[in-house]
Amino acid sequence: MNEKTIINADRSYRLAEQKAVEYFNSLADQHAGETYVPTLTKDFESWKSNHIHRRSLLSFFTNKKKPSQKDYHRYIGWLDMTGKLEPYLDRSISYIFMRDMGKALDSPETKQRIQSVVNGLKKDLTTKQADNDDVFSMAKLYRKAQRNGIESTLIWVTEKLKTITANIPEGMDAEEAQRKLIKIIAGLVMQEIEELGDEVAPEEKSTRLDTTIRLGYAYGLTYPFIDDLLDSNVLSEQERNQYSELIRVTLVTGAVPELGEWTGKNRNLMLFIHSELKAAFEFIKENQPEEEWRAFLEQAYVFFKSQEVDRVKNLANENYTNEELYVPVILKSSASRLIVRSIISAPEDEGIDNRTFYYGIYNQLADDFADMVDDREGGRVTPYTYYLEHHKKRPDLINPFELYWTVIANLIHQVYDSDPKTSDIILDRAINGLKRFKEKKGDKGYNEVMELFFSANPAFNQTIQQMVRKATDVDFFDKLLRDHMVSNLQKERKEREEFTEMTRMMRKEINDFLPISNGGSVSIMNEPIIEAANYSLISGGKRLRPIVTWFMGTEKYRLDKAAILPLLKSLEYMHTASLIYDDLPAQDNADLRRGNPTLHEAYNTAVAELTGLFLTQKAVEEQASLETFDAKLVLQLIHYSASVTAEMCRGQAMDLKTKEEPLTLEQLNQMCFYKTGLGFEAALIMPAILAGTDELEKQALKKFARHAGIAFQIKDDLLDVDGDQELLGKSPNRDSKNNNSTFVSVLGQEGAKKEMWEHYCLGMEILQELKQENPFLKHVLNYLVHRDY
Ligand code: IPE
Ligand code: IPE
Ligand code: MG
Ligand code: MG
Ligand code: MG
Repeated sequence: MNEKTIINADRSYRLAEQKAVEYFNSLADQHAGETYVPTLTKDFESWKSNHIHRRSLLSFFTNKKKPSQKDYHRYIGWLDMTGKLEPYLDRSISYIFMRDMGKALDSPETKQRIQSVVNGLKKDLTTKQADNDDVFSMAKLYRKAQRNGIESTLIWVTEKLKTITANIPEGMDAEEAQRKLIKIIAGLVMQEIEELGDEVAPEEKSTRLDTTIRLGYAYGLTYPFIDDLLDSNVLSEQERNQYSELIRVTLVTGAVPELGEWTGKNRNLMLFIHSELKAAFEFIKENQPEEEWRAFLEQAYVFFKSQEVDRVKNLANENYTNEELYVPVILKSSASRLIVRSIISAPEDEGIDNRTFYYGIYNQLADDFADMVDDREGGRVTPYTYYLEHHKKRPDLINPFELYWTVIANLIHQVYDSDPKTSDIILDRAINGLKRFKEKKGDKGYNEVMELFFSANPAFNQTIQQMVRKATDVDFFDKLLRDHMVSNLQKERKEREEFTEMTRMMRKEINDFLPISNGGSVSIMNEPIIEAANYSLISGGKRLRPIVTWFMGTEKYRLDKAAILPLLKSLEYMHTASLIYDDLPAQDNADLRRGNPTLHEAYNTAVAELTGLFLTQKAVEEQASLETFDAKLVLQLIHYSASVTAEMCRGQAMDLKTKEEPLTLEQLNQMCFYKTGLGFEAALIMPAILAGTDELEKQALKKFARHAGIAFQIKDDLLDVDGDQELLGKSPNRDSKNNNSTFVSVLGQEGAKKEMWEHYCLGMEILQELKQENPFLKHVLNYLVHRDY
């Protein structure tokens, strides 16, 4: 490859390596001298007073009520109630400031910043409704983004995440990729907010946050698409080498080369990744000050290379030295954090850089400890797996668990100058890590591991084990949040799958009972009307309206399914009729509907007009046959249904008039409510009428339907511009060809998306108030805005 290098990659790596070797040698000396044992024993002695309490009668009662940490809201409520919330948050935020931002906790400014973050967070956690668990819901995030003027950025990143998840190949974990990306973006945003300080002007803040989120995404992509991909078995050996080389060339030349010939079986995947990463790389480049670009590339190279060095190691190789094992660990774990500062162009700060450099290995050794079983099964070389594999024949190998405590002692006393708070927090974290490990593995599994790694130091071991058993108040908010996020993502996914499966089955059944029979009447003429009606009915469609009615009718109002069957039919008849009219030459003049030629194309306009009328009347006929219900209710239903149909006609007429005069946003919302929103409303209100539901609830449902319906229409307008004809079953760009006023023509695509999410949030907020015990409507709304057809 013809490469024009702009950095001296080997030299950068050697320099970084040198520093890491020095650090490692110092750790190895401390380890050999066992100085960490008396030091930490003493540290634990004073630490204990805050964490090991004799159980008083009172604590016996309060302890009993302590909820599980799996119950996020109750756990926070409990912390608050017992006065533990503030120290809990203080410990957690201090830790993040130390780990992610390289801060020293004894600086007065840092103390003040931590206090202010803790106060804000405490207020947030204790004043918001405690009973909703959607901390990460799109509606909440969107509202937050609006307050900061970055809603377009949120929409952008949401769409990006969706594309990424859809493109994660089998053999890799899509959910994990998503979580990592979110975590990295959140981390960068947090750092940027700290860099910005409190006094920044709102416009400046939104511009900076916008860039930071995009940078976070750009950098975050490297985790699933470089790191995890190269770690996985998705690529063949040859593909892996080709890909690694491509990345190396990118970093040393500062430009992404063409993908070139790709003969491996993952060509499509690589085309996608190449184009995404290229855009990401160029975005980072654009946002780096010229003079720092090289430094950034060098750092990225050190990060990449140190991972490569580890990746090609073989667990069966008996000859790695301690230095070979630990130096890449020091390099990659610190580079991953140092690079963040360089991405957001934070000012240089030697103190931060040094602390970050020394800190990394602590986290890495804690992570590798927790993952050792998986890593060993996967054949990955980490200090732990390698030690397990070879320590019997290699007495010279450093016990990684002992080195871990050495690192801790070194951090507390050499790096952080024996600051008591730092000492407290690092020990909290270490004990918490072991407690979590013990919980996960069970006593037996835990003890086995401990015996393996801790036999040489019985007294120190005993101290640690006592802490693990007895210490309290060592848990951390970031862990709670992480667990909560993981379980929420899982819950959401499960619910979504159930929703998809349920609606699929409903759709299938609806399709079976929709066709109209001629009732056995014998005709001596060839009449096309029933055939035409069935042509329109059976050619497809999402069946959204009858699905909503079915679910609400049977699950919420406990109505008998067979009894409401006529209602389900009537809704789809009315809807299909509205589409037949909408497609007519005099209206939208469409040629394709539900994947087939429109009715007037397949037959003729007269047949289409008559079929529309025929279907609306069939709908009334069905409604009038809801005979198991009280006649008054049925009458009320027919009355409502007729008025909705009339209003929808008004809506269509307004729509057609917009060819002459474009609408304001307000008029647009109104028009869409009439032409589309009401159809949705009917699907929710009709079963409520049959169930004799009270007026208050109906009003709330109507409010929800209005926003859901408008969001639905906006999505329809957006799909008209960027949808896939094959999936949609309709010809695209109808609206612009017809010169119709739509959300896209009035607000532009960007603006239309914002308006859609606004209605989405309004809809979700109503559901929140309604306190639905079933998430069905939430999933309907999600489906409306996320659908591709
Ligand atoms: C299309 O409705 C007309 C609008 C109200 C935007 P649908 O998108 O529900 O159409 P089908 O029933 O799935 O074909
Ligand atoms: C149709 O809106 C509204 C109706 C209730 C018929 P559109 O004209 O945007 O619907 P499509 O895009 O043709 O399905
Ligand atoms: Mg139309
Ligand atoms: Mg149309
Ligand atoms: Mg449309």
